[in-house]
Amino acid sequence: MSVVSVKQAYGLPPGSEITVRGWVRSRRDSKGVSFIDINDGSQMKGLQAVIEAGTVDDQILHQLTTGSCVSATGALVASPSPQQPIELKLGSLHLYGTADPAAYPLQKKGHTMEFLREIAHLRPRSNTFGAVFRVRSALSFAIHKFFIERGFYYIHTPIISTSDCEGAGSMFEVHTPGEPFFGKEAFLTVSGQLEAETLALALEKVYTFGPTFRAENSNTPRHLAEFWMIEPEMAFYELEDNMRLAEEFLKFIIHYLLENCADDLEFFNQRIEPTLIETLRGVAESSFAHVTYTEAVEILQKAGREWEFRPFWGCDLQTEHERYLSEESFKRPVIVTDYPKEIKAFYMRMNDDERTVRAMDVLAPRVGEIIGGSQREERLEPLRQRMIEAGLSEEAYWWYLDLRRYGTAPHSGFGLGLERMMMYVTGMKNIRDVTPFPRTPGNAEF
Ligand code: 4AD
Ligand code: MG
Repeated sequence: MSVVSVKQAYGLPPGSEITVRGWVRSRRDSKGVSFIDINDGSQMKGLQAVIEAGTVDDQILHQLTTGSCVSATGALVASPSPQQPIELKLGSLHLYGTADPAAYPLQKKGHTMEFLREIAHLRPRSNTFGAVFRVRSALSFAIHKFFIERGFYYIHTPIISTSDCEGAGSMFEVHTPGEPFFGKEAFLTVSGQLEAETLALALEKVYTFGPTFRAENSNTPRHLAEFWMIEPEMAFYELEDNMRLAEEFLKFIIHYLLENCADDLEFFNQRIEPTLIETLRGVAESSFAHVTYTEAVEILQKAGREWEFRPFWGCDLQTEHERYLSEESFKRPVIVTDYPKEIKAFYMRMNDDERTVRAMDVLAPRVGEIIGGSQREERLEPLRQRMIEAGLSEEAYWWYLDLRRYGTAPHSGFGLGLERMMMYVTGMKNIRDVTPFPRTPGNAEF
């Protein structure tokens, strides 16, 4: 007799003596026999335990209600019902924790995403969120696998930072009562990029995978105040190499999930986004479109539609623009490059036209911007010039400038928002619903 997960049980032959542990999803009684559906989160489908009269003490049987936690031991048998191939003929049972049926908030019927968000401690027990968190785990693993297999080193950059990488000024300050703890102003990081650059100019190819914080007050379905970002940084990469890597990376992850999370993706396809699997397969096979910012603005201006924000050269692309380009104009992911310097961060490499920088954003259908990246300005003087224009102090960034003084090299990198990628691969419509404990303006419950 061995303790196995429900998923493992489905792979065992009838006759196997096993114990499974999990939470009761539902219970049904008929003459002389009860059925409980046990789910342990290892897969979408639970294991049905068949409890014949007399096997379990009546008082315990009575308490096997939705949400209660049990350990069930017995023999796997072929199920007579077409609902499932196998079931557990119960021998003995232990009840760990009861769940008062009058108070348990999760019912068998579907709940709204908004309702489930208010019970974040129980929502992982629903089908949707079980699938979300299994896919999130597989996605994280696939990301590490991609980089490690290609000779990248996984590095850790600080969460408490003293630099404003994106120059957007939307940072959370870190304080203690009294004296400044670090001797200067400190913030929760908005990006590990600047620090990653220092390691890339020593180890050549590195990546970060960590939490990131933005205090922008944008209460949208695509923004979190705390999210996870993956930032590869590569010495000797120019923008074209960077674009190639980003495309290869996204396709690799999608392939991995199609192969390893088929059941969960099938669920999302049926219940959340009917075009999901078709589009993921399409993306994995096709090549991404490439367009410069200047060309993109022309496409938008010729689109012949009413915009909330009228597109003009120099404007920041809005979600409606990003979605038009990827969903309607190209019908696949698009990489937009060479943005006006005024709307991009100080560290991006200046083009010869002195107006645009070597930026690249990857725009995905349904989600909009999923990756932001660039070739970095590796030349000392142009970088200093951009810092002066951006109002950044040379003293504070002396170490970043030093990289351009001592053995500088062309280098590039990008950032993928983990939760934006999750929205893309699950079809979930709100970024709050792909993260276990969302932090947004006005909300840090749990
Ligand atoms: O475009 P961003 O701001 O780029 C950077 O931070 C660069 N330092 C990356 C680099 O070149 N190493 O952010 C990168 C990605 C976005 O494309 C988006 O996917 C995600 O991070 N992101 C957010 N995700 C959720 N909530 C937010 N508030 C986000 N802001 C950015
Ligand atoms: Mg960006």
